[in-house]
Amino acid sequence: MNYSVKAGGKRLRPMLMAETYEMFGGADSSVIEPFMAAIEMIHTYSLIHDDLPALDNDALRRGMPTAHIKFGEAMAILAGDALLNYAFETAKALQILTRKPGIYGMIGGQTVDVEQENKAISFDTLMYIHNNKTAALIECAMMIGAVLAGASEKEVSMIEQIANKVGIAFQIEDDILDVVSTSEEIGKPAGSD
Ligand code: IPE
Ligand code: IPE
Ligand code: MG
Ligand code: MG
Repeated sequence: MNYSVKAGGKRLRPMLMAETYEMFGGADSSVIEPFMAAIEMIHTYSLIHDDLPALDNDALRRGMPTAHIKFGEAMAILAGDALLNYAFETAKALQILTRKPGIYGMIGGQTVDVEQENKAISFDTLMYIHNNKTAALIECAMMIGAVLAGASEKEVSMIEQIANKVGIAFQIEDDILDVVSTSEEIGKPAGSD
């Protein structure tokens, strides 16, 4: 758990959460920080599992050997599961935090991504994958920032739509980088997606 979380990464989701919190006038770091840690733990768990042989079978992440290369598959599965649980211990009971990373969000998108690997897919299916595997967690980050800062329901819904577009753009860029970059530049295998 420590190895993968402390390996670094851009910390994009906690940063977006904190910025959105501040944008709506949130000023108490002790309110937002547990959720910043929680979403990074969920994100890191998703990366540990994404890299497993059963999914993308990648050996490099955040510039370091992936968790299953370093500690074996069993420990990588358990560390991923444990990070998810730990996230909910850190930041309890927020419906957004439970729903967006779940079967109607990130896991749903990952499931279709894996099912459709190496197949020609429709634009709608591609958008389903991007919307869920990546945009859902960006929406989660920014919506929690807004909610904890006291934003209205309408504002939270606007933030959800904005975050969705950020997420789609982010995944498109991630997929372009997979084609045009080197492994050294992106810290994960190029040409693997
Ligand atoms: C990688 O996310 C996984 C995708 C959803 C594309 P990031 O590019 O934010 O990974 P880290 O946190 O910086 O390692
Ligand atoms: C990962 O997507 C999305 C997750 C929900 C973990 P990818 O498989 O496209 O991301 P990278 O290229 O391995 O970071
Ligand atoms: Mg993947
Ligand atoms: Mg991958």
